[in-house]
Amino acid sequence: MKLKKALITAGGKGTRLRPITYVHNKHLIPLVNKPMLQYAIEYVTSSGIKDIGIITNPEFDELEAWFGNGKALGVHLTYIPQEKPLGLAHAIITAEPFLKGDPFVYYLGDNILRGGIQKFIDAFYENKSDCHLVLSKVKDPQRFGVPQLIDGRIVSIEEKPQKPKSDFAVTGIYLYNESIFEAVHAIKPSPRGELEISDAHQYLIQQNKKITYSIISGWWKDTGKPEDLLEANRMLLQDVEDQQRGSIDDASFLSGNVYVSEGSVIEKSVIRGPVHIGKNCRILNSYLGPYTCIGHGCEILNSEIEYSILMDNAAIRSVDIRIEGSILGKAAVIQKTKGIPNNHRFIIGDQSQVQIR
Ligand code: G1P
Repeated sequence: MKLKKALITAGGKGTRLRPITYVHNKHLIPLVNKPMLQYAIEYVTSSGIKDIGIITNPEFDELEAWFGNGKALGVHLTYIPQEKPLGLAHAIITAEPFLKGDPFVYYLGDNILRGGIQKFIDAFYENKSDCHLVLSKVKDPQRFGVPQLIDGRIVSIEEKPQKPKSDFAVTGIYLYNESIFEAVHAIKPSPRGELEISDAHQYLIQQNKKITYSIISGWWKDTGKPEDLLEANRMLLQDVEDQQRGSIDDASFLSGNVYVSEGSVIEKSVIRGPVHIGKNCRILNSYLGPYTCIGHGCEILNSEIEYSILMDNAAIRSVDIRIEGSILGKAAVIQKTKGIPNNHRFIIGDQSQVQIR
């Protein structure tokens, strides 16, 4: 069976990803040189869904400028502004006119996973569920919606409990029929002032609706924090193709899967994949280590970098300590100072983080 509609969230402020999110919607942060939201769109599209509602934060209009009506991705996108961040269940109320009439998948746009979502849709139909949830075993269930499982059934769900009743998170992939609308209208705001999706699920349980679940066996991450971005990037880089479209001189040595995009020039450098390099970059006399993604138009000269993300037009020049676990925003530059005084000099935005040794 196929679903016709999906609702994807792409609002929020991404406060834990500042300063990057001061200027960009979190969902446009690139992972392997593709905006995060594009993964969500591709996951739902690969299961045949073409009609997608995107919940947006009206303060940022970047998403619409980037994805337009979705034609380039073979889908039809409807942008649905959520005037205030009043919670994930409130987002469903906001999108009700768009969603009404069909079962749908609700997908939180910052969730990255491996393996697609078709099997969850199949389970939703096979079980004739009112609501099908996707669970993942986690080390820190306190950060998530947490189910209590007894004899293979979900008997309760709590949002960010201090004493979790299982070590599973309810991930941001939900399948619903029309009973979800009654639930989102029935619940009241939580102490943080939001209509919580976990409370809507708990309401469905109390109404004896059929709630089933799948457990994600592969990799899943909700990318709220900088370290989550690096991990998501690492996971996605595992599938990178070994393809060189740029120019690589004889003095350079590439191993593992390394994708070099058109117009990029690599000279006298060592690159150990998986690494993805965007268009028109210059890499000279440098080392790029595993799980590194370099945006378009970047420059890396006389430096070493590993397990990091560089966004477009960033540059690292003559830095003599290896850079690791780092995220550089667009056009950010790290370079060695020339001459005297022999000092460090920083011009960094609010809430930036620098660690030196
Ligand atoms: C939200 C939901 C939570 C769920 C999580 C998955 O949390 O409220 O139940 O487990 O997404 O990504 P948030 O990321 O908004 O804190």
